[in-house]
Amino acid sequence: MPNTHSQPQRAYGPAQQGFQGRINESSHGSIDAIRLLRADHKEVEALFEVYERLRSASRKRMITDRICMLLEVHMQIEEEIFYPMVRRMLQLDDLLEEAVADHVSARELIAQIREDDPEDPFFDARVIVLGEYMQRHVKEEHRELFPRVDSSRIDTVALGKRMQARKDQLMAGYSVRVD
Ligand SMILES: [Fe+2]
Repeated sequence: MPNTHSQPQRAYGPAQQGFQGRINESSHGSIDAIRLLRADHKEVEALFEVYERLRSASRKRMITDRICMLLEVHMQIEEEIFYPMVRRMLQLDDLLEEAVADHVSARELIAQIREDDPEDPFFDARVIVLGEYMQRHVKEEHRELFPRVDSSRIDTVALGKRMQARKDQLMAGYSVRVD
């Protein structure tokens, strides 16, 4: 599968700082894979809602940079760790193929959004379409995939630990250097 996205070393604004905390870690230090992915979905959905109220081009740039980063990391940990485990244990090939096809489309949009000027008349439209991909992704995972994983023998805590470690590593690749 082609990995079309990059991990740019670019500066992010204040909203991008201090994100690398383990938001899904329980008091016992365990990280459940489903909780981690649900938290990612919630955070990105909230940012799309923030975007809808923005008028300033610089704020639009900042929020979309963060949306793009979070989505890239989310898709990558799903593809590298979560989906392969689901494929091995549950044989949900059709569902997973559809999910990966949506990721390809989302990455194309992300690449365009990163290149575009927020004052470009097409910018808002592209962000809206990316939000629609996200809504569809969330709906399919929450309704179909997560319940199947929850009721399976997959060790979601062990899986979550691996996913959080990879997520931390990927997020560090986007870290800010302000010298
Ligand atoms: Fe997801």
